[in-house]
Amino acid sequence: MEVRVVIMAAGKGTRMRSAHPKVLHRLAGQSLLQHVLDASGALGAERTIVVVGHGAAAVEQASAGPNRSFVRQEPQLGTGHALQQAAPLLGDDGTTLILNGDVPLIESETLRRLVAASAGARLALLTVQLADPHGYGRIVRAAGAESGIATIVEEKDASAAQRALREVYTGAMAAPTRALKRWLAALRNDNAAGEYYLTDVVAMAVAEGVEVTAVQAGSEAEVLGVNSAEQLAALERHHQAAAASRLMAGGVRLADPARFDLRGELVCGSDVEIDVGCIFEGRVELGDGVRIGAYCVLRNVQVDAGALLRPYTHVDGEGLGARIGARAIVGPFARLRGGAVLGVEVHVGNFVEVKNSNLGDGAKANHLAYLGDTDLGKRVNFGAGSITANYDGANKHRTVVGADAHIGSNSVLVAPVVVGAGATIGAGSTIARDAPAGQLTVARARQASFPGWKRPQKKAPPA
Ligand code: UD1
Ligand code: MG
Repeated sequence: MEVRVVIMAAGKGTRMRSAHPKVLHRLAGQSLLQHVLDASGALGAERTIVVVGHGAAAVEQASAGPNRSFVRQEPQLGTGHALQQAAPLLGDDGTTLILNGDVPLIESETLRRLVAASAGARLALLTVQLADPHGYGRIVRAAGAESGIATIVEEKDASAAQRALREVYTGAMAAPTRALKRWLAALRNDNAAGEYYLTDVVAMAVAEGVEVTAVQAGSEAEVLGVNSAEQLAALERHHQAAAASRLMAGGVRLADPARFDLRGELVCGSDVEIDVGCIFEGRVELGDGVRIGAYCVLRNVQVDAGALLRPYTHVDGEGLGARIGARAIVGPFARLRGGAVLGVEVHVGNFVEVKNSNLGDGAKANHLAYLGDTDLGKRVNFGAGSITANYDGANKHRTVVGADAHIGSNSVLVAPVVVGAGATIGAGSTIARDAPAGQLTVARARQASFPGWKRPQKKAPPA
């Protein structure tokens, strides 16, 4: 059956008190709208139409994708008016699924049930029972009838008796497209808000004898909308708790699931341990037995089995990705950037930055170093305070250090330069020409001592 999706995302979101359009605020690292697009995307709809208004250009730019169209609603005269803007793109057959762009935790499975309940013939409403239904449209059922829905009445227009109803409309519905377009054309705005209410289509369907059916949401959280910074944070926690539960069910040991943040995809082997306060972004893979210390931030990196990341390690593989070899030890306070590839049992210690560099198996850079555009051979010891000068002000150049070389502390390797295998560089050297394998190379002023030398004395002040 043909399915088209309409996502309403034109509203301002005044209560967010933000200059940014509400649907672009982020939950778990991606926009609210993107969450809704992902959930509905799983249905394989022919087309998704996003109704934009406030911050339209920014929303369109951030949310473009295949089989996706944007229509602008200017001014915003209500949810019914929003749908009227999308109507010309809906075709005539099949089912239209209508969603709110600010309800990010909605699940694909729920949407599937909703579309199946409509089946291009019925009007299916996603509803939920709330302890506090304040602010929501109430589902009003025909007197005496157990299931027959008569109408939806908005909070502003509801009588005291109707306000007491606990079953509310969540903002998601699936409708037979042809009928929906007819109903939209007949909407009026003679209500308390002076808006065109989409929810008025319910009474129209009932009047035409079209069956109206309610589908219950899977949980309350999945239909909660975001209207304020506080609600956004509450849904973020909810989402994170669910992500933490999934990982723990797979055997991952989180020191505290309440202090864990996943903003992308995290794939874990067995016996992975993650201490508190860590953030995972992009795609992160942790092999068997990997341990992540407290307050690490990892993005786009593969960590091989048995590696240990000590606290406060920051890894951002950027577009290139990064890889930490088996049983490597990184941190505390280490920084790995795009293209950092660490071999087996590499040690990278505190205040060491590695960018676009390969560190051979067993190589060590334990303190205060910068490795940029560098290939370190196996077992190289890169001394404390040493750096590669990879940038000449215009271009980047590579540094190559052969296996078993020893780079003395506080050296500068000025790229492009090659240090041969087994070479030793004396501490404090600035190496601007290739250093031969197996030899000691020292490039610094020779030490001298001056016997009999006296420190200058302060002149006596004039009498
Ligand atoms: C709407 C429903 C209400 C339901 C509630 C669930 C109507 C009339 N009422 O009320 O029954 O319980 O959602 O959250 O539909 N939007 C536009 N253009 C507009 C107005 C709104 O695109 O002109 C978008 C908003 O950006 C938002 C969605 O539609 O994503 C819902 O709008 P909102 O103003 O929050 O509707 P409610 O008054 O909450
Ligand atoms: Mg709302």
